[in-house]
Amino acid sequence: MDFANTIPPKAPSAWLDMDALDHNIQLVNQKTQAINLRLATKSIRSIDMLNYIKEKSHNFIGLMSYAAEESLYLLENGFDNILCAYPTLDMTSVAATFKYTKQGATMIWMVDRPEHVDVLNAVAKAHDVIIDVCLDINMSMPLPKLYFGTKRSALMDTKDVKKLLKHIKKCPNVTVSAAMGYEAQIAGLAEHVPGKALLTPAIRLLKQRSKKQVSKRRSSIVAWLKKQGYTLELVNGGGSGSMDFTSSQPEITEITVGSAYYKPAYFDHMDSMEAFQPAVGFVLPVTRQPEKGVITCHGGGFIASGAVGEDKAPSIHYPSGLSILADEGFGEVQTPMAIAKPAAINIGNYVWCRHAKAGELCEHFNELIGYRQAAQVTTANDKKAKKEFDTMMTYRGAGQCFH
Ligand SMILES: Cc1ncc(COP(=O)(O)O)c(C=O)c1O
Repeated sequence: MDFANTIPPKAPSAWLDMDALDHNIQLVNQKTQAINLRLATKSIRSIDMLNYIKEKSHNFIGLMSYAAEESLYLLENGFDNILCAYPTLDMTSVAATFKYTKQGATMIWMVDRPEHVDVLNAVAKAHDVIIDVCLDINMSMPLPKLYFGTKRSALMDTKDVKKLLKHIKKCPNVTVSAAMGYEAQIAGLAEHVPGKALLTPAIRLLKQRSKKQVSKRRSSIVAWLKKQGYTLELVNGGGSGSMDFTSSQPEITEITVGSAYYKPAYFDHMDSMEAFQPAVGFVLPVTRQPEKGVITCHGGGFIASGAVGEDKAPSIHYPSGLSILADEGFGEVQTPMAIAKPAAINIGNYVWCRHAKAGELCEHFNELIGYRQAAQVTTANDKKAKKEFDTMMTYRGAGQCFH
C-alpha cells in the first residue's frame, strides 16, 4: 500500500490493505491445502471479512467462534458450521442456536470439565435436542519451573479424558463428536520480541521440544478415542503461527487460522510469519505540535490484551523516524510522538499504525476501509468496485459486541 500518497477519507480510521490481504489469503491456502480450514472469528470480527475470505479459500469448512452469543449471530448471518472454541455457561444463547441446528447447521461446543457438560446437557434436555461437544485437549508443555503453553483445558492426558467421558455417558443429551488440541505455544508465541533477544534461542528450542510432545499426545488421545468407538467429525488444531506444523500432523482434519490474514504487529516477531504482509491497521491525524521535534496525533490508545508489556502496544508503520514518548505511550485520545526530522511531518499529515493483535482493533472502529494500490473505495456507490473490494463492516459497526 502506498501510505505516502494515500489520504484516508476520515481519520482516525482503520485501514485495510486489500493487496496484502489477498496475498495473505493465498499464502494460508497454500500452507493449509492438505486439510480443512476453519476461520478464527476472534481474530477477524467482521461478517464482511469472513465472507470475503471464505469465498477465496477452497478448503474453507467453517468458523471457530469465541462466544455463544456470537455463535448465534454467525448462524443468523448464514454460516452453518461453527465450533465455539471456549466453554460457555450462556444457556440462553445456546438454546437460541437450536433453531439452526434443527435445520441442519453444525454447532459444536467446547468442553473440558463436567460443569461445562452439565450446563449443555440441561439446556439440550429442556429443548429435547442432542448437543454436539468437542473435547479440548491441553497441548501445553509443563516443565519444572516453566509452564510452556496456555492454562485453559483440564484435559492433559488420556486419564483425564477417560474421566470426563465417564461423566458425559451419564448425560444423554450430549454427544462427543470432535476433539481439539490447540498448540498455542507454537502457533501464537513470537520467538524474537524486541528487547528480549536473549530469549530467542530458548523459545525456539522449547517450540521444537513442544512440537514432539504435541504430536505424540494429540495423536495418541485421538487414536484412543477412536478405539473406544467415538466417531470424531473433526480433529482441530493449530493457529496462524503453526500452519506448516499442524497441517503435517496425521491426526488433524482441520486447522484454525485468523490472525494471519491481518498480520498484526506481534506476528512480525514470529519466525513462521515472515512471508505474510501487514494488512490491517489504523491511521491517526496529526492535530498538534506542542514543541519542536514533537507532534501529537488524535487517538491511538488501542492496546492489545495479554500480559502487560511493550509488545502489546501498537506500532508505528509509516512514516519512519517517529517514536512514542515513554511517559505517555499511545494515549486514550491523543498520542504524542517524537520526530527524528522536524518539518518532515506536520499538522494535517497522517501516521499509519498497526495493532499488536488482529481482531481487537475491530472493537474500536465501525469499518475497515479498503485500499488497493490502484484505487480506493470508501462508499458503496461504485458498484463494480464494491464487488471486488470495499469497506468491511466490523462487529462493532454492526452494533455487535461479544465477550
Ligand atoms: C482454540 C484456538 N484455536 C486457534 C487459534 C488461532 O488463532 P489465530 O490464527 O488468530 O492466532 C486460537 C487463538 O487464540 C485459539 O484460541
